[in-house]
Amino acid sequence: MRKVPLAESLRIIGRGSLNWVAQRPIVVSFEVTDACTCWCKHCDHGGPRDESRNLKPAEYRRYMEDLRPCVVQVSGGEPLLRDDVVEIVRQIKGGSKLPYTILVSNWSLMTEEKYLALREAGIDQFSVSLDFPDERHDEFRVYPGLYRHLEDLVPRLAKLGHDDIVLNSCITSLNVGEIGAIADKARAWGVNLCYSAYSARRTGCRDYFLETASQLAELNRHLDAVEARRDSTNWIVNAPTTLEATRRYFANKGLPGCSAGLRFLVVTADGALQPCSMQFHRYRLEDRARMIEEFTRQNRCDECYVSIRSYLDKSFPRLLWENVSGFFSFNTERQ
Ligand SMILES: C[S@@+](CC[C@H](N)C(=O)[O-])C[C@H]1O[C@@H](n2cnc3c(N)ncnc32)[C@H](O)[C@@H]1O
Ligand code: SF4
Ligand code: SF4
Repeated sequence: MRKVPLAESLRIIGRGSLNWVAQRPIVVSFEVTDACTCWCKHCDHGGPRDESRNLKPAEYRRYMEDLRPCVVQVSGGEPLLRDDVVEIVRQIKGGSKLPYTILVSNWSLMTEEKYLALREAGIDQFSVSLDFPDERHDEFRVYPGLYRHLEDLVPRLAKLGHDDIVLNSCITSLNVGEIGAIADKARAWGVNLCYSAYSARRTGCRDYFLETASQLAELNRHLDAVEARRDSTNWIVNAPTTLEATRRYFANKGLPGCSAGLRFLVVTADGALQPCSMQFHRYRLEDRARMIEEFTRQNRCDECYVSIRSYLDKSFPRLLWENVSGFFSFNTERQ
C-alpha cells in the first residue's frame, strides 16, 4: 500500500492529536446515498431508495469545517450511484491534501475514467469489496457479471502503478474458507487487501456469523497463514492487532469498548449525524456533543468489528504507532 508522504503524515498526526484532545472525530464516514446497485446477503442497503433528500455536494463543506476529520470514508449504499460523486470528493477535500480520503465501493459502476477523475479530485485509497475469489461473489451480491467486471478492471487499473487499491473482504461463515484464496487474488491482481468481520446487527441474521468450533479453527488457521505473508510493501493493510481483535470478536461473539460517536461517526445521506452505520440515533451537526453524552458515554454495544471501529478502539499512542509505522509513514521508501 502506498505510504503517505512524510509532510502529509505529520499534518494528519497533528490534526489527529488536536481532534483527540478536542473530542472531535478522527474518522468520518459520509454515506452519500442509501441506494445500491447490489442486494448483498449480509447488508440492509440493497436496491433503489428515495434520493430526494440527499445532501448536495456544496453542503459537505459545512460538515468538513465543523468536524475537521483526519480520515474520511465516502461510502453508502453505493457511492458511485451519485453522478456528482467527483464533486462531492472535491468539496470534502477543499483543495487540501487532508483529509486522507477513502472511497468504499462495490465498483459495479467503476470505469477507468471515473477512477482517474476520483484520484484527481483527491481520493487517496479505493476500497473495493470482494467476498469470493470467483463468480460466487455475484451470487452473494446478487449482481450478475460483477466478478468478471472486477477481474478485468482491477488488475488493469493496478498496472497504472498508483498502488491505491485495496480489496475489502468481509469475513462470514460462507467465505471463511476463502481467506487465503482472496489473498492470492489480491496478489494476482497486484492490489492490497483488508479483512473485515461480519456483524449480524445490520440484518439481524446470525447465519453468516462464525459460530462453530470448526469455523473458528478455520478462521485462526487462515489468519495465521495471512500473518506469515506480510512483507515490507504493507499489502495486508490490517494491523496485526486488528486481526488479533477480529479473532477475539468472533470467538467471544462481540467486542466491547466501542467509541462510535466520539472517535468516529457517520453522516447520513440526508445530513444527520449517527454514531455508526448500524445505530440509528440521529443528531444535527450542532448537537454532536449531545450525541457523545447520550450515546457514546452509555454505549455497551459490542456487535461489530468493522474497519471504521478497528482503526479507532485503541489507545492514542497505539493508534499513532500503528499509523506511523504502517499506513502513514516516516519511512521514505516508496514515497
Ligand atoms: C455498507 S458497504 C457500502 C459501500 C459499498 N456499497 C460496498 O459494498 O463496498 C461497506 C462495507 O460494508 C460491508 N458490510 C455490509 N454488510 C455488512 C455486515 N453485516 N457486517 C460487516 N460488514 C458489512 C460490505 O461488505 C462493504 O465492504
Ligand atoms: S454491502 Fe455495499 S454493495 Fe452490498 S448491499 Fe450493502 S451497500 Fe450495497
Ligand atoms: S459496536 Fe459500535 S460501531 Fe459496531 S454496531 Fe455497535 S455501536 Fe456501532
